[in-house]
Amino acid sequence: MGYLWFSLSIFLCLSYFSVAEVVTCSGIVPMRYRNDKISITDFGGVGDGVTLNTKAFREAIYRIEHLKRRGGTLLYIPPGVYLTESFNLTSHMTLYLAKGAVIKATQDTRNWPLIAPLPSYGRGRELPGGRYSSFIHGDGIHDVVITGENGTIDGQGGVWWNMWRQRTLQFTRPNLIEFMNSKNIIISNVIFQNSPFWNIHPVYCSNVVVRYVTILAPYDSPNTDGVDPDSSSNVCIEDSYISTGDDLVAVKSGWDEYGIAYGRPSSGITIRRVRGSSPFAGIAIGSETSGGVENVLAEHINLYNMGVGIHIKTNIGRGGFIRNITVSDVYMEEVRRGIKIAGDVGDHPDDKYNQNALPVVKGITLKDIWGVQVQQAGVILGLKNSPFTGICLSNINLHGMTGSRSPPWKCSDISGAAHLVSPLQCSELSGAQQASTCSNYS
Ligand SMILES: *[C@@H]1O[C@H](CO)[C@@H](O)[C@H](O)[C@H]1NC(C)=O
Ligand SMILES: *[C@@H]1O[C@H](CO)[C@@H](O)[C@H](O)[C@H]1NC(C)=O
Ligand SMILES: *[C@@H]1O[C@H](CO)[C@@H](O)[C@H](O)[C@H]1NC(C)=O
Repeated sequence: MGYLWFSLSIFLCLSYFSVAEVVTCSGIVPMRYRNDKISITDFGGVGDGVTLNTKAFREAIYRIEHLKRRGGTLLYIPPGVYLTESFNLTSHMTLYLAKGAVIKATQDTRNWPLIAPLPSYGRGRELPGGRYSSFIHGDGIHDVVITGENGTIDGQGGVWWNMWRQRTLQFTRPNLIEFMNSKNIIISNVIFQNSPFWNIHPVYCSNVVVRYVTILAPYDSPNTDGVDPDSSSNVCIEDSYISTGDDLVAVKSGWDEYGIAYGRPSSGITIRRVRGSSPFAGIAIGSETSGGVENVLAEHINLYNMGVGIHIKTNIGRGGFIRNITVSDVYMEEVRRGIKIAGDVGDHPDDKYNQNALPVVKGITLKDIWGVQVQQAGVILGLKNSPFTGICLSNINLHGMTGSRSPPWKCSDISGAAHLVSPLQCSELSGAQQASTCSNYS
């Protein structure tokens, strides 16, 4: 009998491990293997860290764009440091960084190209008018892979951060990588460091996979968000380490009256197995959500030394909606505030925003969240004239700084349910045993 049980359990274990596959969303973009390969050195590229390689990058990519080899072309970057000005990618290409390859942005900010503001923002995010092009840019392209053996894309953002600190910036700082109006994009096995502004910004895109990336920027570097899916659908962010000076992942969709008019939501966003630290948020939605954000799943998130663990933020004038958001299986350590959902966060593009454009926040499920050394557990503050509904909290344990006692929660202008969360100073959330009020939304 004992032996039988033993064999049976061994069998069950083995079959469990052989069938259990790691859950992944990366299948939304099939990996492409390219037969046609070229190297940046074929175009005069020199990886000495001094030579400016702008011409080499632009010519190599021009060649890919115009020769149109069947199945696309891989551009190989061998070990070495390749200094360059910004450049545009094209369709059907793989940018492949070998181990020890570094593509480094020039520090010459004066000749950095300017591009039009995003229509959903109406102006540059930081300053009125246009904005600097991202270091690596793609507009209206598809079937693009940036990958390799964990080579580095370095934005040398220090010069930009200093201009921001000294208030000498003329236009909005460049993102490290931006894809606009593009689809079927894979970014994997690359290290991104010292971005001037946001690191990876897919905007008006669909089917984007970001996985096995490392994103690094100093804790005090301004606005160095990790990955910001913006008015984009089907975005998969997995298995990555992000440690920057701002939100690790922030889902957005345009800014006030411009975002409302453009009306393009972010939807189908999956964030899974992401780790990191930052003085701002781990998983953020907003605050620019004027085109709407829906169907977001974030799970298996590990955060330490954080400002806010999970931050859902919007404002009066934003309009739009934030709905069907699920965040689960989060571990956080040393955080100022575990969870924040609020309708009074972020600035406005100008004074033309509509005071009556209230965001609708509905169907937010936060479950299985554990935190230690959390200064303040959570605040959920809806808007008086647009209460947040379907807020569901379940199995949340956030421990205080001194011991296992949980600091209290605060809330107002919300409705929903709470189960296994304490101490919750929130009569608005009913103590639903099976949390049935939540299942309507998630
Ligand atoms: C890069 O693309 C932008 C538009 O997205 C364009 O304005 C710019 O001229 C392009 N730069 C180069 C060097 O081709
Ligand atoms: C590159 O980094 C990823 C993520 O950290 C890791 O999973 C992978 O094994 C690394 N690959 C190589 C070739 O070093
Ligand atoms: C809610 O979002 C999840 C992804 O997190 C999605 O699978 C589900 O279909 C969405 N539900 C509705 C009603 O749209």
